[in-house]
Amino acid sequence: MRALIDLVRAMRARDRRRLALIALGLTGAGLLEVVGVASVIPFLTLVGDPAAATRLPYLAHIRDTLGLADDRSFLIAAGLAALLAILVTAVVNAALTYAQLLFTHLTGYGFARRLLFRYLARERLFFTQGNSAELAKNVLSETDRLVIGVLTPATVIASRAISALAVIAFLLVYAPRLALILGGGFGGLYVGIYLVMRARLASLGARSVGDNAQRYRVVQETLGALTELKLYGRAETFAGKFDTPAHAYAKATAESLLTGQMPRFVIEALAFGGVIVVVLFALAQGLDTAGILPLLGLFAFAGYRMLPAFQNIFNSLALLRFYLPAVRVIVDDLAGETESPPRTLARLPFCDAIRLEGVGFAYAPGRPALAEVSLTIRANTTVGLVGRTGSGKSTLVGLILGILTPDAGRITVDGTPLDADTLPAWQNRIGYVPQDVFLVDGTVAENIALGLEPVDRAAAERAARLAGAHDFVAALPEGY
Ligand SMILES: Nc1ncnc2c1ncn2[C@@H]1O[C@H](COP(=O)(O)OP(=O)(O)O)[C@@H](O)[C@H]1O
Ligand SMILES: [Mg+2]
Repeated sequence: MRALIDLVRAMRARDRRRLALIALGLTGAGLLEVVGVASVIPFLTLVGDPAAATRLPYLAHIRDTLGLADDRSFLIAAGLAALLAILVTAVVNAALTYAQLLFTHLTGYGFARRLLFRYLARERLFFTQGNSAELAKNVLSETDRLVIGVLTPATVIASRAISALAVIAFLLVYAPRLALILGGGFGGLYVGIYLVMRARLASLGARSVGDNAQRYRVVQETLGALTELKLYGRAETFAGKFDTPAHAYAKATAESLLTGQMPRFVIEALAFGGVIVVVLFALAQGLDTAGILPLLGLFAFAGYRMLPAFQNIFNSLALLRFYLPAVRVIVDDLAGETESPPRTLARLPFCDAIRLEGVGFAYAPGRPALAEVSLTIRANTTVGLVGRTGSGKSTLVGLILGILTPDAGRITVDGTPLDADTLPAWQNRIGYVPQDVFLVDGTVAENIALGLEPVDRAAAERAARLAGAHDFVAALPEGY
């Protein structure tokens, strides 16, 4: 419950407004549902007892208002009215379902997008420590799970609960004792099954978040280290680590879905029993066939409406229990979200020197990777850093690039200290050739432009010429 409140809090104001609108629509549909159920009564009463049109005051009143003289045409009018009410209910339900689906999926997309941007904005150090497979999983998989396992069931519960309550209220007024017997029996069954399964679903759900993370990690790591793994013939064993979490994840998901469906099988069998209960009840009340027909019709129709509603509510509750842990992941990771300002196009002047003054940096507290580094790199010179593995060469480059922020000392460029304000302009000045090459799935020009849209072909070619790569690219079958 707490997670759901946090989720609504984390929504954008616009989404919350949409949610309120849908809730309003659902309430309307719930009332309409009662009209749909109630509309069959006059018709069924008239079928069993045509004389009711004159005997029952409310029917007589309607008949007089409509000005229908004979029983037959009044019967047809009542039938058509019931038909119309059912049709309108169906159309409204279809429209609401569409609105609901659109809302839940667009909200899921919104969360995925915000998570992705949130991860970008995090302190850079985060990336050197965080597990990128886990982040990809959160952006794509956990938000999908949020849609199918939390947002959809929550709206389904709301809609079904409102219409079920409306129909129950109506039945309670119309035939209180019978409504209590049937509603209590079926409702109690659902509540009982739910209470038994609740803890199991919650623990399955919590574990499946971990299994999901695990399977993403194995896929990412296998593909990431493919060259080494293939070289040493370990790719299959390594990929085999996918089995345990992926299998557990699949089984947990199946079990949670089965739990949601379980009462259906019980209820379907019992629904026929319900019909018998209604008939016995009516006979015990001393009603004749003409009296039983409207009652039976009403309960059959109400049951036809209510049982799927009960089933939907139960199924959605089971889904919610199972998928709720996904909400925590998303809500927690979104915390501290800010709008990032547009990046400057300016370039920091660099004609004199880069200076490091007493620079220190530690990835983890108490374990400095670099300490007291002072260094001057003059403009237009070439500098090589030499040292053992782990001596801090890459860390030093990260600090100069501004990917890492010094814990001690400072770095200046032509006397301007590098800080949050000056860093973008400094980074606009830098050309960077990484140790490991990363190619995006696209053309050569797209890879050179890396993220610049639209791609400036002439600029890409200029860059390739400067790097001495133009001839080789031009010789490719598809060129740039
Ligand atoms: N992402 C990281 N998280 C924690 N420690 C790191 C990380 N990257 C490097 N280190 C540590 O920082 C030190 C310097 O590493 P690095 O700059 O990569 O060295 P080099 O590039 O000279 O091999 C090493 O002790 C290394 O273990
Ligand atoms: Mg290195």
